[in-house]
Parts: sequence; structure tokens; C-alpha cells
Amino acid sequence: MIIAPSLLAANFGRLGGEVARVNASGAEWLHLDIMDGHFVPYISFGPVVVKTLRPLSRLFFDVHLMCSKPAILLEPFAQAGASQLNIHVELGDAVTPLLWRIKSLGKRVGLVVNPPTSVALVEPFLAQIDHLLIMTVNPGFGGQSFIYEMLPKIQQAAAWRRERNLSYSIAVDGGVDFKTAVECAHAGADTFISGTTLFGQRNLGAAVRKLRKLVEAPSLEGRGCHKRAAGEGS
Ligand code: DX5
Ligand code: ZN
Repeated sequence: MIIAPSLLAANFGRLGGEVARVNASGAEWLHLDIMDGHFVPYISFGPVVVKTLRPLSRLFFDVHLMCSKPAILLEPFAQAGASQLNIHVELGDAVTPLLWRIKSLGKRVGLVVNPPTSVALVEPFLAQIDHLLIMTVNPGFGGQSFIYEMLPKIQQAAAWRRERNLSYSIAVDGGVDFKTAVECAHAGADTFISGTTLFGQRNLGAAVRKLRKLVEAPSLEGRGCHKRAAGEGS
């Protein structure tokens, strides 16, 4: 299981210190949300910030490009120190060349699917990717509520991975807290991106340990919630 705190929820007035907190927390990845004010309404930060943070950490830098034209950004983020570049399947015909470009830059290849988009759209790309990110909120802002209707997408992604003997990781992003993460783990997710929940804790290390323990041993309580969400129970 991989825990990936999302820097979007950090204090931007002291980003270096926030990265140091993540370094010491036991998390494996740092999730970096790039928003262009077009694909999503908000603007976050660019390659210069990633490049500035890179020497401060040995963490895996997971760059999530919520951008209409990622083609012009792949190389700058690769050079800035991204470990993985994620692009959105909603970009249509652009997706195949973008995935190849990421691979040619020597980075891990990630594909993202938004809540309103059918998971069937990612199916043709499964053999090409290292990572599948299932958005569990509509992208653009932190602190939103988890959309439970996304759980079947995780189950489908896990089923495809099993049936086809593939090895892409399955991540969830948006509204991931101590309860929804358990639901996602039951459904088959192995990578948990969390902003508000983790950065909101005074002790980030304790929060990461708690989240890891929960997703590695999903609780009965979590299972009950999953049943309700899937419409199988009360
Ligand atoms: C949402 C971003 C997320 C965000 C998650 O558009 O892609 O990575 O930081 O934040 P929380 O955990 O607060 O929902
Ligand atoms: Zn993200």
C-alpha cells in the first residue's frame, strides 16, 4: 500500500517545511497537483516549484496534470524531477501520444479518470500504463466529499488487472479519509492520495501510520459502509 499526501493541502507559506514533514511521515509518495485554470478552474503551481522542492526530498514525486495541454508540460515537469506523470483520459485523441511521450521521458506513466467519465474509456490503455488514478471527487479543489459511486470503478480496474495479469497501481484521489480509504482498499485500491485529512493532523506521521494500518487491515465497519454505498445493504 502506498500513502501519498497531497501537497495542495499544505501551508504554501512554508512549502519546504511541509515537504520535510512528509519526508519524516513514513509516506512513500508526494502527490503534486498541477492545475492550469482551464482543464480545471483553479491554478496551483508549476515546474519551478517542483524543481525547488526536489532537492529537499527523496520521496517519489507523483505529478497530477489537471491541464488541457499537458504536451507542453511533460518535459518541464520531467526535468523538474517528477517520478511519475499523470494525464487525464478526458483528453481523447491526445492520450496515446501523451502516454508514449511520458514513457520516452523515462517516467512512470499514469492515466486519470474523472468522476463523470466512464471507466471503459481507460480500458484500451491498460497495457500501456503503470498507474491508474480514479478521481473520487471532481478535480480542481481539495477538501471535497468523496463520491461513493466511484467504488465500482475501482472494482472494475482491479478485475481487469487480475484477469489480464497486468500490474498497474490503482490510486484514489479526493475526499480520501480514514473511512473512505478503507472502502477503497476493499474495492481494490492500493495507492491512497490524501490532502486535507493528512495535512489537517498535527502529527502527520501518526496520521500516515493510522491510514496505512486501516487500509492494510480493512475493518468490519468499513465493509459495512461499502455495502451501503454499493446498495447491497440497509
Ligand atoms: C483534487 C486533487 C487532489 C486533492 C485531494 O483536484 O487532485 O489531489 O489534493 O485533496 P483532498 O484529500 O483534500 O480531497
Ligand atoms: Zn490530485
